[in-house]
Amino acid sequence: MRRLSLAGQRRLFLLSVLGIAAFGTYWGFFSDGLPIIWGPSARASEVAQGRELFEHEWEPNDPLSRGDGLGPVFNAKSCASCHFQGGLGGGGANEHNVTSFEVFPRPNDPKFVTGTVHNFSTDSTSKETEKKLRQMYPTVKGRSIETGTESCRMRTLIPDFDPVHTQPVQTTALFGAGWIDMISDRAILRNERNRGVRNAAKELQLEFNTIPVGRARRVAGGLGKFGWKAQFASLEEFVAAACANELGLGTSSTEQAKPLVGATAPTVPDLDKKQFRALVAFVKTLPKPVAVAGHASADRGKELFSTVGCAVCHVPDLGAVKGVYSDFLLYTLEPPPPPGGGGEYNLGPSPLFNLPERPEHEPKPSEWKTPPLWGVADSAPYMHDGSAPTLRDAILKHRGDAKSVTEKYNALAPDDQATLLAFLGTLKAPPDAPSLSNPAVTKLDRK
Ligand code: HEC
Ligand code: HEC
Repeated sequence: MRRLSLAGQRRLFLLSVLGIAAFGTYWGFFSDGLPIIWGPSARASEVAQGRELFEHEWEPNDPLSRGDGLGPVFNAKSCASCHFQGGLGGGGANEHNVTSFEVFPRPNDPKFVTGTVHNFSTDSTSKETEKKLRQMYPTVKGRSIETGTESCRMRTLIPDFDPVHTQPVQTTALFGAGWIDMISDRAILRNERNRGVRNAAKELQLEFNTIPVGRARRVAGGLGKFGWKAQFASLEEFVAAACANELGLGTSSTEQAKPLVGATAPTVPDLDKKQFRALVAFVKTLPKPVAVAGHASADRGKELFSTVGCAVCHVPDLGAVKGVYSDFLLYTLEPPPPPGGGGEYNLGPSPLFNLPERPEHEPKPSEWKTPPLWGVADSAPYMHDGSAPTLRDAILKHRGDAKSVTEKYNALAPDDQATLLAFLGTLKAPPDAPSLSNPAVTKLDRK
């Protein structure tokens, strides 16, 4: 074999470098990451153990727990008691909503605090209420200050500022969560970037340029994909947070929720690593929702969904996951406040208080992630707070960033509106979802 000349070797080297660079460029700009060849999977025995833990009704000092079991504070006794609509792992009704809160930076404490007001506690001293929360973070009294220059002094009134903001959040369905877990950050970012490019492009300015591009939320571990506020990047982290916050079960990664008031004795994690892995395996392998065929109008409805502009945010296929209908970006669907008015839109202290800004990565109170619409026909009521009983109500609540789309929907002929809704009606919970062993667990005792 002839040996390559020095020049030949150089050329070969240059070519490979160029090749790698070209691949890198392709990878960076055009690829959504590795294709998904196999869906989420786990050992059958693990999934079965996980299902038991998901349905188990936890008690204080539960025999299945390594620590103190349920509590000290909790929202229900089992995962299944909130996640049950359309099968085990589905969404829940409004009586299962959870109250989340955030506390803005205050003059005596610049920390931004978020958490949950738990419905129940194992002993009465750790009982949490919104009233207790507000006592801990009282309203900052307004005052009148002098502003202006030497020659022109003015008195300005700074209004009182309530640093606490609470919000009910509704239980989301977990079907297909393992697939969402596999959507790569680069797929989300690529879609976000393309939106920006398309919005800037002239020919589309007439079309959907009135829809601002949402923003991806960066959290520890990547881009947020789970939760109404995109607060977690991975399913595993959300499951650990759900154990800690909803049931008061600590795991090796996340401590159980502490009561707002009163100290608690330290305890070992309630779930050991094997139990936690099993619970994640069960949630991860819940089947994904389906689009049922057979409706003649559904195809036309899907077309309308695109032409009206719904698909700009509810992106049908993201990365390698088909039929998820989300871009996982944050938007504000509330109308902007009237000029001069405060309102929830820009809720926060008066700038005259001179308090630290809320951290940029923390979504505003009005910002919510585009929820995936797969399975939506079986997850009423709708929106983060469950305030929309029907799909039509949900659409009509889209104002703010989606205002132009709602206007287009409203301008459709009644038949076309019905056709679009019929399409949403084909997005069903998976028919092979596991069923509840004990349907009675869904009756929450609120006393
Ligand atoms: C008291 C009701 C309640 C209980 C009990 C509960 N959840 Fe949830 N779950 C919710 C609510 C409400 C949300 C939406 C929270 C949010 O986005 O802020 C949610 C969201 C989730 C999500 C995120 C889904 C997504 O795609 O964004 C996961 C995963 C989850 N729950 C798993 C669990 C597991 C596992 C358990 C048991 C350890 C559990 N949940 C117990 C109410 C509950
Ligand atoms: C600007 C982006 C955007 C556009 C455009 C948009 N949506 Fe949404 N959609 C959202 C966000 C964000 C939410 C969640 C808001 C909340 O919970 O307050 C949402 C929620 C929903 C829900 C409730 C889902 C659930 O699980 O509760 C439905 C149904 C829905 N959208 C359908 C539509 C339809 C149909 C259209 C077109 C007519 C549309 N959306 C256009 C961003 C958008």
